Amino acid sequence: MRMTAIAEQPLAAPQHNDVGPDQYAALPDVTSDVFTAPLQRPTHVGEDWLEPAQTHYSSEDDSVWDDLFARQMDILPGRACSAMLSGMDKLDLGKGGVPDFGRLSEELGGLTGWSVVPVPMLIPDHVFFWHLANRRFPAGNFIRTRETFDYIQEPDVFHDVFGHVPLLTDPTFADYMQEYGRAGWNAMRYNRLKALGALYWYTVEFGLIMENGEPRIFGAGISSGPTEAVFALEAQSPNRIMLNVDRVMRTDYVIDDLQPTYFVIESFGDLYRQTVERDFERLYRSLGPGFTYANSAVIDVDNVLHRGSQEYFLRGGRGSAAVPV
Ligand SMILES: [Fe+2]
Repeated sequence: MRMTAIAEQPLAAPQHNDVGPDQYAALPDVTSDVFTAPLQRPTHVGEDWLEPAQTHYSSEDDSVWDDLFARQMDILPGRACSAMLSGMDKLDLGKGGVPDFGRLSEELGGLTGWSVVPVPMLIPDHVFFWHLANRRFPAGNFIRTRETFDYIQEPDVFHDVFGHVPLLTDPTFADYMQEYGRAGWNAMRYNRLKALGALYWYTVEFGLIMENGEPRIFGAGISSGPTEAVFALEAQSPNRIMLNVDRVMRTDYVIDDLQPTYFVIESFGDLYRQTVERDFERLYRSLGPGFTYANSAVIDVDNVLHRGSQEYFLRGGRGSAAVPV
């Protein structure tokens, strides 16, 4: 599951007082002065947006999973970080067919206390935060077809389970995901969901991590697609910059093309520390409603691993004949 794109928002004064230690147990209230994407809830799901059960997949669905899995596993060894590859192994994601969420939840539960729960589509931000804060990962129930095999914007079960779930076996990353969900409460209070969304985008979806002195993939948006898995690490076009949480939360992002910039973390422990130690309330009070930096910007405080040529984007990006070099 990925965050929804959110329109620009004016800064709102805090509307709620902090509540007790079990403040994350109940769905957060969303008042009309918190601006989120207006998603229409299907009539068959409740306010938790959970499907009553994981869908039954046809043999064709299972074969789409198997072919997607085989394609990515031709590319990822040597490119994906070791925690992702070992997570795939621990959860036996290649055993054949779409994995059963009950089996995944049982195995994850023993490792890090997370579960995987089925949802019909993109879900509203406040529901997403609530599930993460309670160590539930909402995964799209449906799988793409052969017609949309190469690219699908709406996250399906392959993106969500193959891309996101393996790292939930890593105890530190698992804690980071829960902290991210908890951070949603404050972001809503200050109407700064867009800034928090950028943090998710540049880490959980499109993050790179240093391993043995080289960037490796940990973002699900990279690992679940064949082109970006190579482009993110090897192409000359994109910037690769060491991550600073404050800088990332001020940076615009594209949702329908390869990324002009990838941010690289030292380790999951460093990402966790940077996130929990950052005073988000202070940051939100100083942030304007829009982003400060363009998605291709390199600024003077950046620790730059690779300054991109931006050739792919300057030639037109997706939809043009530009080659992702
Ligand atoms: Fe995602």
